[in-house]
Amino acid sequence: MTSILILNGPNLNLLGTRQTEIYGSHTLADIEEMCRSTARELRVSVAFAQDNAEGALVEQIHLAREHHDGVILNAGAYTHSSIALRDAIAGTEIPTIELHLSNVFARETFRHESYIAAVAVGVICGFGPEGYPLALRAMTLHLAQTEA
Ligand code: DQA
Repeated sequence: MTSILILNGPNLNLLGTRQTEIYGSHTLADIEEMCRSTARELRVSVAFAQDNAEGALVEQIHLAREHHDGVILNAGAYTHSSIALRDAIAGTEIPTIELHLSNVFARETFRHESYIAAVAVGVICGFGPEGYPLALRAMTLHLAQTEA
């Protein structure tokens, strides 16, 4: 069965209480439940991980190559700073979708740059928590198309 890792970076453990005017009131647990429901519908398996540390996220991407077919990555602020995360995705060649809850292009200019986007299959941003099930659908489709 196709397996997809949903990997969240720094401060996303605070969802539900963190800047709710930007990120809404759903917690990460709520988002996981939404994804589990979509995964059942799509008949794919999903795993979840969250870490605030850049190196731990790099490790997760390395491990993902052995255990998963694709990664949905909300790298949080590391999106805009981390060459290490970009290199991990490029180095493992694991299909990755970059995801953001907020529309980063409608925010501060430092959020307009992404080190991840160029090595990602695609980017989903601005749809709030719904972006996660959307990304699952997109990744499932992408994997089915590249398998064939
Ligand atoms: C975010 C956007 C980033 O710019 C920010 O640093 C985050 C969350 C989002 O999901 O909208 O931590 O990735």
